[in-house]
Amino acid sequence: MASAPRKTVLITGCSEGGLGFALAEAFADAGYHVFATAREPNKAASLAAGGAHIEVLQLDVTSDESIAACAANVRERTSKAGRQGLDVLVNNAGVGFIMPLLDTPINEGRKLYEVNVWGMLAVTQAFAPLLLDAKGVVLNISSIAGAVRMAWQGSRHPLSLAPLHMLIPLLAPPRAPGPRSQTPSLPYLFSSKFSLDTNWYPRTLGVYNASKAATTFLSETLRIELEPLGVRVVTAMVGEVATDFYTHSTATNAFALPPGSHYKSVEAIIGRQGAGELQKNNESADAVARNIVHDVIVGRKGQIWRGGVAGTAKYASWLLPTRLFEWVLHQGRGVYEIKP
Ligand SMILES: NC(=O)c1ccc[n+]([C@@H]2O[C@H](COP(=O)([O-])OP(=O)(O)OC[C@H]3O[C@@H](n4cnc5c(N)ncnc54)[C@H](OP(=O)(O)O)[C@@H]3O)[C@@H](O)[C@H]2O)c1
Repeated sequence: MASAPRKTVLITGCSEGGLGFALAEAFADAGYHVFATAREPNKAASLAAGGAHIEVLQLDVTSDESIAACAANVRERTSKAGRQGLDVLVNNAGVGFIMPLLDTPINEGRKLYEVNVWGMLAVTQAFAPLLLDAKGVVLNISSIAGAVRMAWQGSRHPLSLAPLHMLIPLLAPPRAPGPRSQTPSLPYLFSSKFSLDTNWYPRTLGVYNASKAATTFLSETLRIELEPLGVRVVTAMVGEVATDFYTHSTATNAFALPPGSHYKSVEAIIGRQGAGELQKNNESADAVARNIVHDVIVGRKGQIWRGGVAGTAKYASWLLPTRLFEWVLHQGRGVYEIKP
């Protein structure tokens, strides 16, 4: 008797070394047929060596032509293989940009939004017919950076959120972690790796954070709008992950503020943030990917918090009054010392 065709997943931004690459491997290991896409497919070529269940396709999420061609290609491939639509779409492609808002070239901000916000929505629209056929799942890779507003500076200072330590177990019952988990659904309250006494800082600045807030809002609104159509939407609020994100981020190399910047006195600190040096709680992309895939498979929907310090970000942004949270996060960051 012929075996049932594998479920299918398409993932954007699968260059080697990134979260998309790790998600492709994790979905393949979980029994899915994977369409791993990249704007430059040679960057994901090694995935194809993983066997017949991973195909590497071209997809630039900022190009209407590329999106339409990829959707047509996937429709043809799935129907030839006797599969019903597309079971999972993963909007993972994303770019970063490190710069205070006053110094951010608007054009760079627009380019970032093209990938992180409009790219995600355009890809979802293009694959919606296939997702509706399969009654599938949309998984949007957002970030804890989208959960809080942060000023320009990336400094790290002793910040204790210890009082939350006692409150959290009372407010949220623990959930079973996924396989090979480094990230329980609750923060690592008692683990040596991480606790709420650990310093926590969002890793990125203005425009990127804003784009991820937009991603989160779009994703959660899609969840409401697609549920009646039988499509489940998951928003991954991803914490710190060891990937090539910072080496890819615009302005990472030889970071420099423009002449006349009001923030010259802290340029070195912002530069260190741009190089990813202040991101101290990275989890491996493999572990984060496997937890996220587990979440999708077991049927979770809405926001899931995975990756280093994601638990702290979730509960601190939820429990603390907004102004207090902002004040705590900005202590020692020089924001209040700047003279106009
Ligand atoms: N790393 C973290 O700590 C972290 C934390 C929270 C959220 N995230 C999110 O996780 C996702 C993956 O990031 P990552 O950490 O794996 O960084 P990464 O290694 O830089 O991967 C980003 C991927 O997006 C691709 N991409 C960029 N522009 C694209 C476009 N126009 N069309 C298609 N693909 C494009 C990149 O392709 P190229 O290789 O061709 O540039 C790359 O494959 C992003 O959405 C990011 O915001 C990461």
